[in-house]
Amino acid sequence: MAADTHRVGRRRPLSIGSRPRRQSQSGSADTAPLLLPRAFVAELMRLYDYPDPRHPGRLIRGYDRPHAVRTARMCAAVATRLGHPPARVVTYQIACLLHDLGRAGLDRGLFGKIWSWARRRGVPTRPREWRAVHPSTRYGRETEAFLSRHADELRHAGIVMDAWAREQVEMRLGYARRLRRRLRAVRPRLARLGVRWAAWMEQVMLYYYYPEQLKRAPGWVRQLAEVLVACEQFEAYSNRRRGRDYYLRQRETLADAFGYLEQLRVEEILSEPVLDALRGLAAEGAFDRVLAEARGVPLSSQEVRELRTMRQGAAGCR
Ligand SMILES: [Fe+2]
Repeated sequence: MAADTHRVGRRRPLSIGSRPRRQSQSGSADTAPLLLPRAFVAELMRLYDYPDPRHPGRLIRGYDRPHAVRTARMCAAVATRLGHPPARVVTYQIACLLHDLGRAGLDRGLFGKIWSWARRRGVPTRPREWRAVHPSTRYGRETEAFLSRHADELRHAGIVMDAWAREQVEMRLGYARRLRRRLRAVRPRLARLGVRWAAWMEQVMLYYYYPEQLKRAPGWVRQLAEVLVACEQFEAYSNRRRGRDYYLRQRETLADAFGYLEQLRVEEILSEPVLDALRGLAAEGAFDRVLAEARGVPLSSQEVRELRTMRQGAAGCR
């Protein structure tokens, strides 16, 4: 059995109705906590598992599960710092835990080959970047445009461009479509878990790839969407496994992570209040544990110093 697959099993039903967690396993106060019961979070994470089309009866274990959990922990801390009400933050954390559901079924080897190939050649890897380079592409048809331009080159690079490979392309360039399909597929399981899905939860999940879709959203939804982007990118830039698998990265640095967040601010994807809140919490040490987990090694003393001297500040909820 492949390392990232496991067999389909029966699961005990669970609901969100138990007491929120705020303590770490060691019993000390957690500065970036999961606000939901551990068993409930585990059930949500199983929604990332996907039937393996190559091996009937097996599931592909969700590649993004640890990233999603770390991101959701940071998001709740930043949203709380920005003054969002506690009940909203709990619901928001559910959306953050599922924000990469559109990538369920990610085939680490194949996905890595396709997108590393694209990055090396400067081929856009996100819908908004694709549309900037190819404005003639019809909105929402970025996967099709990518395949018609590059499928032959990918074949020549030795990648079998079958339906499964096209699905890996859809996980980035057709993310909205795929996320909606996955959310539809898991809706009964979410209902059984007691999750009442709201439209804004999907909106915040789509913001990174489709910021234009939130132009008319309420300010608080847009702000939570920004928090998700800031935290997931902060985590992704600290995530050693992702860096190795498909970012062509040799090592993770805080300077690169904050440099990318600053680039997103210049592009007006992120606002100053959200970045201030994230930096303030990072400076206080709220994310030290999450970052070390993402790295797989403790932060160096130099990095801890960098974090502690980071500019601090915060702003209220819009
Ligand atoms: Fe993510």
